[in-house]
Amino acid sequence: SDEYEYVWFPRKITDLDNIAHRVLILGEELDDDSPGSNDPEYRKRRKMFTQVALNYKQGTPIPIINYLPSEKQTWGKVYKKLSSLYVKYACREFLSNFPLLSMYCNYNENNIPQLEHVSAFLKETTGFTLRPVAGYLSSRDFLSGLAFRVFNSTQYVRHPSLPFYTPEPDCIHELLGHMPLLADRNFAAFSQEIGLASIGASNAEVEKLSKLYFFTVEFGLCRQEGVVKAYGAGLFSSAEEFEHAMTTPEKQREFNLEQIMDMECKVTTFQDYYYITESFTDAVQQLRQYAANIKRPFGVRYNPYTQSIETVST
Ligand code: TRP
Ligand code: FE
Repeated sequence: SDEYEYVWFPRKITDLDNIAHRVLILGEELDDDSPGSNDPEYRKRRKMFTQVALNYKQGTPIPIINYLPSEKQTWGKVYKKLSSLYVKYACREFLSNFPLLSMYCNYNENNIPQLEHVSAFLKETTGFTLRPVAGYLSSRDFLSGLAFRVFNSTQYVRHPSLPFYTPEPDCIHELLGHMPLLADRNFAAFSQEIGLASIGASNAEVEKLSKLYFFTVEFGLCRQEGVVKAYGAGLFSSAEEFEHAMTTPEKQREFNLEQIMDMECKVTTFQDYYYITESFTDAVQQLRQYAANIKRPFGVRYNPYTQSIETVST
């Protein structure tokens, strides 16, 4: 039927505390046979991070983590390897923001930046803030955070046996992959727009928005001065998939909304294809086109003064 079915969505920013517990975790709900799930020390450490995330309340400082020498070693190894790839393959927005993160958030080979410090930096740059999350959220829950310019971010470090491709997003993915572009105005606006489009949308529509998000924000490519560059966070955080995507032209395709909607989002393996948009503005246009067709009996807008979502009758 054409009846609109109401779905719950966060209306105030503090409502985000209610979605934090719905997560997928490696070795529990996420498919995986990686050594991380059979390493009791690692599992124990992960439990600590899970507790931090579950106890977090919106608006409070994010706990500072005393990262272990082994975690710092993994970070350093990944940081060094990826830095050599960024110069060659990252889009210009990434390259101009990365030095700011070094300057203001202590990004360097020997230090894992703290979410709390990055959150404060982003707040001043684009109004985005971070909140710690225990694992992979459902698409609906993750996207709804973006509507408030809140980015759910994991805080644990990948298992040392998988430095260059991990099947589960970790803080290296968030810090190196997402943060540089969340400091870009246009990109931040695009992210919030996808989030707002998801509010009150049907499951089928949210599924489609999450594909759009996946093949742009996570794995997107773009053309700059005629050269294919990367802007996807899932590429910026995995040396193996990054190199693979950039050096395998057969796997690069022109962005096509319909095609993307039929693609599967692969969470624990490489993607089949990487899609090239002309620019972020282009991706925003495509999103607007799609979002205009979402069926809901009200309009949605964000009120930054009260940090709440307002619905307006249409
Ligand atoms: N493979 C990514 C990395 O090594 C992490 C990751 C796992 C990921 N699943 C994902 C990133 C899904 C984006 C989307 O850093
Ligand atoms: Fe991500």
